[in-house]
Amino acid sequence: MGAGIAQVAAQAGDEVLLHDTEQRFIDRGLATIERNLARSVEKGRMTEEQRGGVLAHIDARPKWEEFDVDVAIEAATENVGIKLDLFRKMEEHTPPTAILASNTSSISITRLGAVTSRPELVIGMHYFNPVPVMKLVEVIRGLATSDATFEAVRALAIRHGKTPVGANDFPGFISNRILCPMLNEAVYTLYEGVGTIESIDAVMKLGMNHPMGPFELADFVGLDTLLAIMEVLYDGYGDPKYRPCPLLRNYVAAGWVGRKAGRGFYDYRDGAPKAAPAPNGAKQHAKA
Ligand code: CAA
Repeated sequence: MGAGIAQVAAQAGDEVLLHDTEQRFIDRGLATIERNLARSVEKGRMTEEQRGGVLAHIDARPKWEEFDVDVAIEAATENVGIKLDLFRKMEEHTPPTAILASNTSSISITRLGAVTSRPELVIGMHYFNPVPVMKLVEVIRGLATSDATFEAVRALAIRHGKTPVGANDFPGFISNRILCPMLNEAVYTLYEGVGTIESIDAVMKLGMNHPMGPFELADFVGLDTLLAIMEVLYDGYGDPKYRPCPLLRNYVAAGWVGRKAGRGFYDYRDGAPKAAPAPNGAKQHAKA
């Protein structure tokens, strides 16, 4: 998602410093941005010159250094230890007035702010996948986030061509408190043999007009991410209604974590995605 965020910021004319843990991840992000921009040129939405202009706004910085920025947005994996460490580093390497934002999909902004000495400048700036396409940015206030920080980030999201929506800092915020239990429930529906991957996806696409069925979407988001968010909800509310489905745990244990692994509820290894008829461990009803 970091590449998508860098792209929308550079398209808005912001000067972007793109950092990652390894050069190959930066290269992969830049390749994605180049592909997206080339497609925009092909479709006549952007000139070749504008494409070059966007790329010129992105400066790759593979090493930790002094990042002279107004806003730093992290988009690391959904692991609280990694994020806490990152916030300590972001504080150390940015000016004391810089806003420190997290693209986290569920981790407490208050907790991230508490490891810095500027929690009033720490905020959630949650984009949605694919970032260049999806219109929403969920802007999450931690307990200590100031109104000035909230307003600055709201304005930044609008500059990035997005619609900001405010949320308070409770597990899953608004988006994933609603989305992830729905996806987890789809996995239970498969696990209990009520339907197949394809029938459950068809019901949600044709009956509810969702652009992707829950299994397509879960694979797109990443099953490891979905499980991590369910754990945050389960732990944060202490309510059994958020318990992750054991079949979801099995997929993650197998390393079948979705599109990025070539395999999740669908198999992407031979081009067109194929659904497994009934995974081991799911009940099968004769007439389902
Ligand atoms: N990057 C950039 N652009 C992309 C893209 C990507 N990965 N995927 C698709 N697009 C663009 C295409 O270029 C195309 O643009 P044009 O029409 O201008 O050419 C447009 O999106 C539509 O794409 P397609 O015609 O190929 O396919 P589609 O109509 O099926 O749309 C989709 C694809 C936009 C992904 C659509 O299926 C969709 O909206 N799916 C649901 C996505 C969703 O729910 N995202 C939120 C996930 S939750 C999350 O991100 C947060 C979290 O915390 C878990």
